[in-house]
Amino acid sequence: MSNGVGHPQPPPPGRPAGTARHLLEVDDLGAAAIDEVLRLADRAPDRTLMDTKGAVLLFQHPSARTRNAAEMAVASLGGHPVTVRADEVGIDIRETAEDVARTLACYHDVILARVSDHSTLRRFTAALDAGGWSVPVVNLLSDNGHPTQILADLCVIRRRFGSLAGRKVAWIGDGNNVCRSLVLAAAMVGVEVSVSTPPGFGLSDADVQRAAALGRAPSIADTPQDAVLDADVLYTDVWVSMGQEDEAESRRRAFAGWTIDAELVRRAAPDAVVMHCLPAHRGEEIAPDVLEGPRSVIWEQVVARRDSLVGLLSFLFGGRSAAVGGPRAR
Ligand code: CP
Ligand code: NVA
Repeated sequence: MSNGVGHPQPPPPGRPAGTARHLLEVDDLGAAAIDEVLRLADRAPDRTLMDTKGAVLLFQHPSARTRNAAEMAVASLGGHPVTVRADEVGIDIRETAEDVARTLACYHDVILARVSDHSTLRRFTAALDAGGWSVPVVNLLSDNGHPTQILADLCVIRRRFGSLAGRKVAWIGDGNNVCRSLVLAAAMVGVEVSVSTPPGFGLSDADVQRAAALGRAPSIADTPQDAVLDADVLYTDVWVSMGQEDEAESRRRAFAGWTIDAELVRRAAPDAVVMHCLPAHRGEEIAPDVLEGPRSVIWEQVVARRDSLVGLLSFLFGGRSAAVGGPRAR
């Protein structure tokens, strides 16, 4: 199936032309832009900012929070959200990813997508950028990263502790998409991250170097007990991410011992909070009494998913101070 990128196709008359500012990973935003997004997240939405604008939310995996948070964020800015399941469009089955992106960009002013393979997002942006379509693509989770989740988490940390710089997050569990976005964002905003994963499930050297280049490499702890010392935030996620279902049994064996339980929480800072992006598997990566205990801020994270998407969309659609640049074009 030819993807049509060899013949860059400009947007048709009436559609926005120019350079799009995409958010495929959180470091497409700089530190100042993240600060601006978080600031906008804490403001009342401008209810006319997306007036007449469409926002398509495309999902190749299930979602409870992201879909609802994004739909409500778009609606609160006066835009019109349309959610599409990937099997309705048949990416690379019914038509190419590139043609899906250009079709959606004919109707919508932003494409937000959850994909199984990060390269699909790159193909979307390549097709749009090649033709000069000014329609941003936002990653709503891929196998590589979950940047909008981390924007929400930063929002919660800032609301809880008053500032980001100097805080310490301990990541316990899989060195997965959420962990990767966390270490990149943390590097930019001056948050220390200590990561403890079972052998073979850690971040890649490239991930660590990318964080280092952004300002701060995560420290790699030998054990969960070491990782949580002095931590302000303990964070975990499922041991088996979407798309890894075939590895479920071997992963459950490998991750035994990487559970956030009450004993681990006691080793952290006295006012430490516990985060989980959800969905949670009680008794695996987190003990039920911790997930539902007084240190848990999971519902604050869920609310912040919507608020931070309001902040991000406000930023992308110009509700920002002139001093701050946008995400890098890719
Ligand atoms: N945290 C998160 O992305 O949740 P959903 O998979 O339900 O969207
Ligand atoms: N790491 C998880 C996050 C779910 C929000 C996954 O990719 O399934």
